[in-house]
Amino acid sequence: MSQQQAPERGHFGTALGFVLASAGSAIGLGNIWRFPYMAGESGGGAFVLIYLVFVLAIGVPVLFAELAVGRAAQRNPVGAYRILSGSRIWPWAGGLGVLTGFSILAFYSVVAGWTLGYLFRALTGAFHEPIDAAGSEALFLGLIGDPLQAIGLSALFLLLTVLVVRGGVQRGIERAARVLMPLFLLLLVLLAVRSLTLPGASEGLAFLFVFDFSEVTGGVVIAALGQALFSLSLGMGAILTYGSYLSKRENLPVAGATVALFDTGIALLAGLVIFPALFSAGLEPGAGAGLVFVVMPTLFEAMPAGTLFGIAFYALLAIAALTSTMSLLEVVVAWLVDERGWGRETAVWTLGAACFVLAVPSALSQGAVGFLSEGLPGGSWLDLQNILFGNYALAFGALLICLFVGWRWGTASALSEIEGVGHRLPAAALWGFLVRYVCPVAVVGVMAYLLITGQYD
Ligand code: PHE
Repeated sequence: MSQQQAPERGHFGTALGFVLASAGSAIGLGNIWRFPYMAGESGGGAFVLIYLVFVLAIGVPVLFAELAVGRAAQRNPVGAYRILSGSRIWPWAGGLGVLTGFSILAFYSVVAGWTLGYLFRALTGAFHEPIDAAGSEALFLGLIGDPLQAIGLSALFLLLTVLVVRGGVQRGIERAARVLMPLFLLLLVLLAVRSLTLPGASEGLAFLFVFDFSEVTGGVVIAALGQALFSLSLGMGAILTYGSYLSKRENLPVAGATVALFDTGIALLAGLVIFPALFSAGLEPGAGAGLVFVVMPTLFEAMPAGTLFGIAFYALLAIAALTSTMSLLEVVVAWLVDERGWGRETAVWTLGAACFVLAVPSALSQGAVGFLSEGLPGGSWLDLQNILFGNYALAFGALLICLFVGWRWGTASALSEIEGVGHRLPAAALWGFLVRYVCPVAVVGVMAYLLITGQYD
């Protein structure tokens, strides 16, 4: 334990525990729900290619920047910026992260609630009856449009999150991730094999991997940037906070690279599960936020023991979402505990309740309440939150951390933190260049382009 670390501050037991927890934060609905939905709305291949470029050129450099800041300061985002900058202005960058995390949690828990709804349906035999594309769509709309279910399920999901985060970093978080994440990966591989062998699967492959430049608009570029950050849990301090629970001995270069590799691999794998099945069932790739939920039952329908696969899929997806919501809540909790002197227990319950209030409009925005459900920028209230916080706020947060590490704290200090006691960061000079120049110019460039073209979503 380092000297600045307050004695009661939690920390990860092992490096593996940290990698699993961070991978758990990164891997979630962002990979399985958001990636296909964004790719589907943004024309497929063009989006995927730009997303991959952003993961490498911005995501990975920002990941290391956050890990360095978090571990060096051993604090929540606000405290970390304060300690390392010694200024009163920079902590606001951390504050923006805390606010963003809280706002993401509010809509994320609604979608996570749908996952629970599907799990209950799978368990109670809804998928025993044959289900086609139209039936699947009706099932989805019935679930999300029902105010009681939508609100109740997101409340339930928030409650689960609160119960896990109450226990602190080490208990629960590490243990759950250790067994379940590998299992999830295995299940996705099996589902991809089935999906890719369906009639018409090649259309799905073409959609994902054929790059058509004419499809690229400002909206596609910001969506791809936002997705790269969202999926890696970057731009709002989640990875920073997890890094702050890490001891100086651990190998950050390997830990960071492992997380990025698994997260991106799982997003692409999810694409291979969903798009072949989608085209095979005759569904529309641009269907919006319901995409995955409508497609998956048609895939289970086409499998032997489909109900069992369905139960496993929704259970593991709910758990993957839980390891992500845990990290979102943890950021806000860490801020209240470190900076405001709150007790962990009070912080967790208060935030859980406040987040529930904020989740209600998103839960009602899928058909239950008309004015929340359509006509807003991006579509529904949930879409708007997703774009505002999931794309714009994260891009802005990434810009700030790059400016901070590149120009204020300094890439040399960050690098010595990353490399610690003898763990080399390959291409360290390139990393510094990306953080100092490429990321800021790219993010500002994308934002300016959007302002000029007006293609915001
Ligand atoms: N990365 C998570 C996912 O893909 C979502 C998330 C975003 C978690 C930002 C923490 C911070 O589901």
